[in-house]
Amino acid sequence: MAQQEYKPHSDNLFAHKGCVFLQDEYSELTQEYIDNLEHFEIRDDDIFLVTFPKSGTVWTQRIIILIYEEDFPEMKDMASYRRMPWLEYPAKGDKYNTRRSPRLFSSHLPQHLMPRGLLKKKAKVVYVTRNPKDVMVSYFHFAKFMKKLKKPKNFDETLDKFLSGWVLGGCWFDHVRGWNTNQDKFNILFLSYEEMIKDLRSVVVRLCKFVGKNLTDAAIDSIVEKVTFDNMKNDNKANYEVLPDNVKDNTKCKFMRKGTIGDWKNTMTVAQSERFDKVYEERMKDFPLKFIWDVTEIQK
Ligand code: PPS
Repeated sequence: MAQQEYKPHSDNLFAHKGCVFLQDEYSELTQEYIDNLEHFEIRDDDIFLVTFPKSGTVWTQRIIILIYEEDFPEMKDMASYRRMPWLEYPAKGDKYNTRRSPRLFSSHLPQHLMPRGLLKKKAKVVYVTRNPKDVMVSYFHFAKFMKKLKKPKNFDETLDKFLSGWVLGGCWFDHVRGWNTNQDKFNILFLSYEEMIKDLRSVVVRLCKFVGKNLTDAAIDSIVEKVTFDNMKNDNKANYEVLPDNVKDNTKCKFMRKGTIGDWKNTMTVAQSERFDKVYEERMKDFPLKFIWDVTEIQK
């Protein structure tokens, strides 16, 4: 890993134990907090949604929240990031151990930093992947949306940082491979952003089955309707436009941006794409999951 090429605290990021975090004064996150997560007490019915950033977190997060909505009427109007908070970025004063079960968490952690209690396979993990070119391009724009992140000078700079693992979440290659290789240790469901684009309803059905929720067809239809790109774009609870103005700048870019497969072609040059492909081929040649790089591939 070439993370060392970047200063440990540059760009408001810091690296710790093979992952890269935001220096976030609004949360309880510290290196010590990350170290202690190993001992975070797991309940059998906890649900953890894990992704590399920009892979469809907020989309899947909203689906899971809606699957449990009827059980938690008191949380109906809560923004997603409060209802299903990030394990590694607890808001100051948010006590996870007093939350009512089943607790729902989001996380961008690599598998080796997750609470060890998950290895007993009782609580559930949902891991969502997305093709890394779309992840990278989404991150490039996100860095303009999040005031805390350093604004990229151009896409070459983002590409350099992504390939060196100096972006939120660290090294995409290690993250995806780590979770995939170690999947047998967890009670885990693998999903992809692209299959959600292709057939959202069947993904919602799989999620219900995995978490053991028996919803009616009408309830499933209603969830599918609420989480279309356009409906989430108009739902402030779901779309992160509700983040406070000291955190986001939605004049430069929207969180709900394109929501499609293959938008990387509108940002990356042929040379940048070829440079990425070379590294991808080296790092992922024996990787069992195949990614979908263009929307036409799901229309066949
Ligand atoms: S984050 O910051 O890590 O939580 O971002 P994440 O939610 O993982 O990824 C953001 C991208 O997901 C797209 N998105 C959606 N696409 C399709 N349908 C729905 N409902 C949806 N909700 C979010 C969002 O637009 C970001 O992708 P880009 O390519 O930037 O549009």
